[in-house]
Amino acid sequence: MLDDALQQIQLNGTLPAHVAIIMDGNGRWARGRALPRPFGHKAGMKAVREVVEGALAAGVEVLSLFAFSQENWQRPAEEIGALMGLLEEYIAREMGDLKEQGVRVRFLGDLDRLPSSQRAAVDRLMSHTAAGEKLALNILISYGSRAELTRAARLLAEEVRRGALDPADIDEDAIARQLYTAAWPDPDLLIRTSGELRLSNFLLWQLAYAELFVTPVLWPDFTRQHLWEAILEYQRRDRRFGKVSV
Ligand code: IPE
Ligand code: IPE
Ligand code: MG
Repeated sequence: MLDDALQQIQLNGTLPAHVAIIMDGNGRWARGRALPRPFGHKAGMKAVREVVEGALAAGVEVLSLFAFSQENWQRPAEEIGALMGLLEEYIAREMGDLKEQGVRVRFLGDLDRLPSSQRAAVDRLMSHTAAGEKLALNILISYGSRAELTRAARLLAEEVRRGALDPADIDEDAIARQLYTAAWPDPDLLIRTSGELRLSNFLLWQLAYAELFVTPVLWPDFTRQHLWEAILEYQRRDRRFGKVSV
């Protein structure tokens, strides 16, 4: 039998095609249990599985997860090491199921900063799941939105220098085409866990008209039910895009 929330989502009809999530609160989850921070990150992996399966069940087309920011490179080496280890563990453990579930995984961000073993693992997961058609799963790692926009400006400037682009033709679509997210529509819904009311340099351009949903739930405690609650809340919103609602 279908879960009540899932059934209601389907009755309501308008699904967010693209859901983005800032997965926050792992450190506080661990601190609440008097554990070192990496235990919180490890517990957070279960929540990733939850939202992937919850998104598949609801029929979301694109799921973008903020896993590690450009600024997170400034954390203690020990914590970064633990996170990199977990990244590899996640890939090794989930690769088979993700492929079977029809999930296509892309890693977005400055992947050149990853240690070689993690770099190889993310490439492996991307090629292994390349044929997935049910859900596009973007995992943002070593990602900063300002760096992404700066890179887009540089790529456009290079096109202009080559003579392939007239500056007069640089419009919003031209910029969007140079972002890591060029292949997907903008997120309709942004979820942030752990109650923080900020974007932390995440998808600044792409979130221009996203509906925001902040929950106090810490990331390791986040389940598919929480995702479905956020979608139900999204379905109650009136998206006006600057116009007058009809
Ligand atoms: C999110 O949890 C995971 C990463 C940013 C890598 P945090 O590690 O930021 O957890 P808090 O915010 O300290 O609780
Ligand atoms: C944002 O969380 C980055 C990720 C969730 C990966 P942070 O915990 O790094 O953000 P701030 O420092 O609270 O803004
Ligand atoms: Mg945090």
